[in-house]
Amino acid sequence: MRERIIAGNWKMNSSLFEGVKLARSVVETVRGIEGVTVVICPPATHLVTIGKLIDGTGVGLGAQNVHWEEKGAFTGELSAGMLEDTRCRWVIIGHSERRAMFAETDQTVNLRLLKTVDSQLRPMVCIGETLDDRKAERTFEVIETQLRTGLKGVPLKGRGGLVIAYEPVWAIGTGQTATPEQAQEAHRFIRDVLMDMYNAADAGETVIQYGGSMNEENVAELMACDDVDGGLIGGASLKVDKFAAIVKAAAM
Ligand code: PGA
Repeated sequence: MRERIIAGNWKMNSSLFEGVKLARSVVETVRGIEGVTVVICPPATHLVTIGKLIDGTGVGLGAQNVHWEEKGAFTGELSAGMLEDTRCRWVIIGHSERRAMFAETDQTVNLRLLKTVDSQLRPMVCIGETLDDRKAERTFEVIETQLRTGLKGVPLKGRGGLVIAYEPVWAIGTGQTATPEQAQEAHRFIRDVLMDMYNAADAGETVIQYGGSMNEENVAELMACDDVDGGLIGGASLKVDKFAAIVKAAAM
């Protein structure tokens, strides 16, 4: 049985006050739910406070990005060591919003991933096609390039194992979720590419999350797909009832 992971990507949302309240409610509502790993990824300014608050509760702390250098003249960036100091053990890498708005490429994704190999951060690396890609029937080509370039030289079984988040860009924040068939087809393809790049055993154990308007209503049918092992949740992770319902539905 593969691990299941539900992670909340809060993006640039919540004041520190709201974030602390949300983190506390998440801990309370998911307590006792077994068979699923739960992670929250608040804005960077909240990490120290929330890191202390959730330490030892079983809910993991994640950052939304990490730089590949340890220190230096990189205004606005945060290193793996700095994130580790806040008790962060997870990090989102290559989110499509960073690709579309902040010049993230498969090459910079690769640099960031290589950095996490010798850190304590377990990466959730985001890939996925745009609507134009899908319409042009380039979905698989795009996903394969993102995997082959982004993961170049990166071990699949690093710290806890690399996590892949399949996030079709057209489904993010749009309320338009991939159908279970579309998700399963893409997830299966991702696992096949990983098999070719690494080996069948490691690819078979790799957690592949779905992301893109996942919510308490569609989580069950998505999680029922053979190769869907969790979710990266944006909007619905900001409402504790919705997030807890997703966690519950994803538990084995
Ligand atoms: P969404 O975001 O759930 O709001 O679509 C998912 C994500 O961007 O990770």
